[in-house]
Amino acid sequence: MENDKLPKHVAFIIDGNGRWAQKRGFPRSYGHKKGTQTLKKIVLYAKKLGIKVISIFAFSTENWKRPKDEVEYLFKLFKEAAQDILNKNKFDGICYRHMGDKNGLPKDFCELVVELEEKTKNNSDFIVNVGINYGGRDELLRAVNKILRSGKQQVSQEEFSGFLDTHGLCDPELIIRTSGEQRISNFMLYQMAYSEFYFPKVHWPDFNEKQFDKALENFTQRHRKFGGLTEDK
Ligand code: FPP
Repeated sequence: MENDKLPKHVAFIIDGNGRWAQKRGFPRSYGHKKGTQTLKKIVLYAKKLGIKVISIFAFSTENWKRPKDEVEYLFKLFKEAAQDILNKNKFDGICYRHMGDKNGLPKDFCELVVELEEKTKNNSDFIVNVGINYGGRDELLRAVNKILRSGKQQVSQEEFSGFLDTHGLCDPELIIRTSGEQRISNFMLYQMAYSEFYFPKVHWPDFNEKQFDKALENFTQRHRKFGGLTEDK
């Protein structure tokens, strides 16, 4: 695969952990555990390939409606993953970014996120942007309210991007949602204006490097026109 054709930013809608587990007679929590292992593998592989930004939809503003024990288990996994990055020497060269409303997060997890963002902010070569308590509409409204509070009467597209959780990041060129569902589910609504989509049937815990390669290969063969007649932006 030609490296210069690879997307700089790939976003994942992780889907199918629960179904993966239930199909095998395990509790849903086991699917989330396996899903976390898959995520770690895919993030490290993306870094090795030279992809610059990975975004992950890990927990939506709507996921609070899930049973309390499932929510608690997911936050246990998020905390372990955050702690794992913090424990690594020089944080594996990863810059951690949070996407979503920090106000709604459990206090101890929020503190961990703030520490992680602060300590990894200079690792600009590889950014892992994690959506937790994230919703695209919520992000847009928070951005609008920030603009109103700033007293601005008008903003350009570029300025508006600066008020989003993804400020400073390029838009995702490729969005992958596992499990065969072809929905966006309130993910990166503003940033996806020109994203390409890929919907593999496999449930997230079974997604692997080979399938990622296939998605990237497929992406490199697409003809992107950005509303024009050529590939120029
Ligand atoms: C979707 O599967 C998965 C989630 C809502 C949680 C994703 C979170 C992780 C894998 C934890 C790891 C994340 C980090 C940042 C360490 P689902 O439960 O919707 O599956 P289903 O559609 O089959 O029910």
